[in-house]
Amino acid sequence: MVNNGIVVFISGRGSNLNAIINAVNDGVIKYPISAVVSDRYCEGIEISRKNKLNTLIIDHKKFKSKLSFEKELIKKIKPLNPNLIVLAGFMQILSISFIKEFKSKIINIHPSLLPSFKGLNTHARAKEAGVLIHGCTIHFVNEGIDSGKIIAQGATSISKKFSESEIEKKILNIEHILYPKVIAKLLDNEININEHNIILCYD
Ligand code: GRF
Repeated sequence: MVNNGIVVFISGRGSNLNAIINAVNDGVIKYPISAVVSDRYCEGIEISRKNKLNTLIIDHKKFKSKLSFEKELIKKIKPLNPNLIVLAGFMQILSISFIKEFKSKIINIHPSLLPSFKGLNTHARAKEAGVLIHGCTIHFVNEGIDSGKIIAQGATSISKKFSESEIEKKILNIEHILYPKVIAKLLDNEININEHNIILCYD
């Protein structure tokens, strides 16, 4: 049966998943989460199960290749016909053929102000570089790494006196506000990607 909604992909802690679940429960996001998909067992799985969501672990290590892993993902997700696939700490790089299956429907949140600090360990690198403004970016997923079209950014001031975990906490707080907001607006067709982006600033 077709069940339009959001599919959230996770690999870890699941704090963004939690924020998205809260936004669905509060009616801010008007579509259900039709599945939470993880590529491994992780903390986020327990959040998903506690909320009685359709929880799928598709363990990437059990597949011989990326192709066969993604084939299984597609097999499980296609029947759900999602409006949006939300990557929330998902630790796999999706191939172009997977992205094409869900054209313009996959978004990601990255913990830096892209195009600065693509990839991993963004907070350590931002601290090391001595930047004064740091943040997170929500973007469409394309075949590159953290290089798809930017939808929204949230920013805050940092300095070298902050520890890495203080920076992470500051940025996560913004992520938890920004991601549900952007998901809601995308689903309600309230974001015209060619006209404006959402920018949030916190001090
Ligand atoms: C977040 O920092 C997000 O920006 C990045 O991965 C982390 C996921 O955290 N893509 P969580 O699992 O949502 O707590």
